[in-house]
Amino acid sequence: MFVLVVNRFDGHRHYQSRYELSDVSLRGKTLLATLQYIKQEMDPTLNFTANCRSAICGSCAVRVNDSAVLACDTNIETLFKSYETNTLTLSPLANFPVISDLVVNWDDAMVHLGRIHPTIVPKKESSRESGCLQTQEDLNAILPAWDCILCGICASQCTRYSQNHNDYLEPFAFAHAWRTAFDSRNADPLFSCKAAVENGLWRCVHCSICMHVCPKAINVAEDIVDLRKLILEHRSQKNFSLP
Ligand code: FES
Repeated sequence: MFVLVVNRFDGHRHYQSRYELSDVSLRGKTLLATLQYIKQEMDPTLNFTANCRSAICGSCAVRVNDSAVLACDTNIETLFKSYETNTLTLSPLANFPVISDLVVNWDDAMVHLGRIHPTIVPKKESSRESGCLQTQEDLNAILPAWDCILCGICASQCTRYSQNHNDYLEPFAFAHAWRTAFDSRNADPLFSCKAAVENGLWRCVHCSICMHVCPKAINVAEDIVDLRKLILEHRSQKNFSLP
């Protein structure tokens, strides 16, 4: 017998539900498929989010024993084995307001991402006719950050963001600042850098947890180092006020 304990919230009260599962009901399932099984067969009141079931949409991230994972990309049997236990505790992502059970609110996180201005300012030679082109090599250089699926796992596990939400951003926001700054089509690579500095770029403590937990292997810690180097090279151009 295997047990999933889920930390739940109904809008007023925090409580736990315990679901006992046979090894047959777990066989070959992902964590997401197990949650769907629980909802369909055991408890229709359990709430969680999911969409693509293919590790693309980023909506199914939850914490297992305090470590965030993509539920659709995590084999449940392997999970129990890796913790060497028959009981696991599921919780919603940390550092997000909880709406219900495993469902979190992304409103603030989207506002924070907007602060970075993750958009490019096309170079003058770009036109309606010629478009805003870049070589395959230049695209390849920034592709890792395009893999971000905004699952929120890095934000949930970030030691610095967990310490203070008010002077630092979710790590994925810095990955998007990096993508913008190093996009060869961008006329002003420093545009999003200034916003990154103002929102805590220098406060990263380089624990590199974001890099280890990212399901897309994005190295946000290294992106932050690249942004700092770029800013130091051009600090006089934008009057950066650095710590
Ligand atoms: S359901 Fe889309 S990433 Fe898991």
